Amino acid sequence: MSKRYRIAVIGAGDMAGNHVRGWIAAGHHVVSVTDIDQARAKELAERYNVPNVYADHHEALEDATVDIVSVCLPLKFHAPVTVDAAAKGKHVFCEKPLASSLADAEKMEEAIRKAGVQFGIGFQRNFAKGVSTVKQWVEEGKFGRPLVFNSDLLQEVRPKVAMHDKNGNKGPFVDACCHYFYMWNTVFQSQPKRLYARGGILGKDRPEIAHFKELAIDTGVVIVEYESGDIGTMTVSWGLAKGTQLRGHADRIMGPCGGAEGGFNHFGSDIHIDLFVGDNKESVVIEKEDLFETELKLFADAIEKGEQAPVGFTQGKEMLRMSLAVLESIETGNIIEF
Ligand SMILES: NC(=O)c1ccc[n+]([C@@H]2O[C@H](COP(=O)([O-])OP(=O)(O)OC[C@H]3O[C@@H](n4cnc5c(N)ncnc54)[C@H](O)[C@@H]3O)[C@@H](O)[C@H]2O)c1
Repeated sequence: MSKRYRIAVIGAGDMAGNHVRGWIAAGHHVVSVTDIDQARAKELAERYNVPNVYADHHEALEDATVDIVSVCLPLKFHAPVTVDAAAKGKHVFCEKPLASSLADAEKMEEAIRKAGVQFGIGFQRNFAKGVSTVKQWVEEGKFGRPLVFNSDLLQEVRPKVAMHDKNGNKGPFVDACCHYFYMWNTVFQSQPKRLYARGGILGKDRPEIAHFKELAIDTGVVIVEYESGDIGTMTVSWGLAKGTQLRGHADRIMGPCGGAEGGFNHFGSDIHIDLFVGDNKESVVIEKEDLFETELKLFADAIEKGEQAPVGFTQGKEMLRMSLAVLESIETGNIIEF
């Protein structure tokens, strides 16, 4: 596609760096970076020759030449900034997770619909070739059915302590598990039927997160049963002791005829997926790719063609529903039916 869109990136943290790089690589023009932390915004703008720096997203939205707003803010700002951007007639690309609540998600969707603009969400990891490769193996019947998909996510209390705020980023089940749930839904080509989870707060005595009024659940085990009869399971902790080297094992999928193991939705370096069929083992190399460039290019192309963005509210709400169901199951002890 040929149109070169003008982009305002809101937030100048870790994800904003990926968005600025990705938008430029996809052939678009980043015209401003906004962050309440002005030193951070200036540093990012200088690194990529972005002409304007703001401290308040309203200033960025006043620029009538901006076509697309890229929201790279902590979770609680996704809804208000999306609503403000839509009201100014801007298309919005927002980092995952979609919103703090389904009620906020509805407000975002209504604002986008009313403004007649496009909305996309940043689930770049699901564009990984590892995910489409495993999905294809499943479709070809290499493993048989039903399948069990097992993912792991283990690390110590996050240095980015805001991730542990129950009233902010809401911990790993909301912030990070959405990538895995999306991968399971994609590979199984099915919808979750019921979910059960148990867990708690392993990092509750850590001084660096003691200032939060309420801590998010940081650890747990999840089982999701799908309409297809397949099962997704996950062990998660962001609460391990300081310096713990223990890490999650690679993703594994297995069925009656075979299976595969590897970081299926990893990217940024080459990955190896081991494919096991019968007594045969084959190692498949998936080359490194910039999935931020991929997802932003697809979003811009959809806008230019007047088509629905490939990943938006449907997927964002599905993943949020699953994440909130994990928290509800842990808190109540109930099995959650979808
Ligand atoms: N897609 C992915 O793989 C992935 C990975 C990590 C994070 N994320 C998501 O990206 C989003 C941002 O995460 P991050 O890691 O970049 O966080 P970060 O803390 O590194 O950056 C957030 C920035 O927002 C700024 N900020 C906070 N409130 C603001 C406001 N009201 N106005 C302007 N600036 C404000 C902060 O000063 C900070 O610089 C989160 O939703 C997170 O879940 C996605």
